[in-house]
Amino acid sequence: MINQSKRNLLKTGGLTALALGLGGTTVTQSAVKKAQTFTKDGLPSQRQLGNLTVSSLGLGCQGLGQNMYGVPQPSREQAVRIVRQAFDHGVTFFDTAEAYGPFESERVVGEGLKGIRDQVVLATKFGWDIDQKTGQRTGGLNSRPEHIKQVVDGMLQRLQTDRIDLLYQHRVDPKVPIEEVAGTIQDLMKQGKVLNWGLSEAGEATIRKAHAIQPLTAVQSEYSLFFRGREKDVIPVCEELGIGFVPWSPLAMGTLAGYTDENSRFDANSSNDLRGIIPRFTPENMQQNVKLIRLVKRWANQKGCTPAQFSLAWLLAQKAFIVPIPGTTKGYHLMDNLGADAVKFTTEELSRFRKELDAIEIAGLRLPEAILNFSEAK
Ligand SMILES: NC(=O)c1ccc[n+]([C@@H]2O[C@H](COP(=O)([O-])OP(=O)(O)OC[C@H]3O[C@@H](n4cnc5c(N)ncnc54)[C@H](OP(=O)(O)O)[C@@H]3O)[C@@H](O)[C@H]2O)c1
Repeated sequence: MINQSKRNLLKTGGLTALALGLGGTTVTQSAVKKAQTFTKDGLPSQRQLGNLTVSSLGLGCQGLGQNMYGVPQPSREQAVRIVRQAFDHGVTFFDTAEAYGPFESERVVGEGLKGIRDQVVLATKFGWDIDQKTGQRTGGLNSRPEHIKQVVDGMLQRLQTDRIDLLYQHRVDPKVPIEEVAGTIQDLMKQGKVLNWGLSEAGEATIRKAHAIQPLTAVQSEYSLFFRGREKDVIPVCEELGIGFVPWSPLAMGTLAGYTDENSRFDANSSNDLRGIIPRFTPENMQQNVKLIRLVKRWANQKGCTPAQFSLAWLLAQKAFIVPIPGTTKGYHLMDNLGADAVKFTTEELSRFRKELDAIEIAGLRLPEAILNFSEAK
């Protein structure tokens, strides 16, 4: 039986549920040391997302504006410092959303990028039904034109900018045809408020329809060693159409970073850890899924990098138009993750690793069904 808090969590759905979070993560000194290996000039390399040039790794800013995975929300000051540290170490791609907080993550990003805003690519997302004054969520979606326009005006204020470089629809709204959403984006582009747009968790047909009206710059979907579902549909479409692909939860909500095993327990009630309601992280399924975590650790060890670096580097090695956005509230995790840029694979390594990866069947869904209902729209 599901208890009341879990029920509420599921009822509010989608990103409301992704408002949760990971406890007690620690890092070893050796991980920090290994993280100091960037590219030759010490900065992450650059990649193209459509016509946007960004650092090969972006910063996921959700956890800077709300509790995530049992990790307490950092103070505004600490959060702003992470944004700034990321920029100082070459990150030029920042991912936030109206729903993160709501509003707080955008405020942090706006504050953190003061004075350097023109040197970065700012991505945010609309699409949940959130009251613009109170931040109250209905748990549903809202991509009606007048709502999007109102949301964008609020975003510009919170982000302290006059334009959004990349605006995503967070989830496809079945009540509003994607053509109408594309038209709204075009209006916002004419006003100069939005420069590029993208979709999140959209399926192939929606991507094609949207792209035909107003070319998409990027599609954002879950993609990690834990969940590779988009390799068969969305990623090939992005490749065909010249759209960038941005994997969210590239560390599988932190579980690929090397500190999780079959004995890890996640509690959505006491520590706001979303993983507590995610089928693949139940104690039963973790008995099976720990095989993946062990595989990643073994390979990371062989490659002389940390498991987080290995997991991110593997994503980078799949396609040149992929830019992962790991989220963190810790400076030392940020530095660890940026070290992924220096981890390279031979073709032989990639095919040997994939064989071992394919041999592991992941038990359990990537998200609870109630949340998945908002994703994977055709
Ligand atoms: N479009 C969407 O629907 C959607 C959905 C979810 C997320 N997102 C975006 O994707 C971003 C990333 O996703 P995510 O935060 O869900 O998952 P993630 O990046 O896979 O994992 C984040 C978790 O990993 C931990 N972590 C990060 N680096 C680490 C390291 N080197 N060693 C140990 N632990 C580490 C973080 O804890 P610490 O804070 O302790 O470092 C955090 O709890 C979000 O910030 C958001 O911008 C988008």
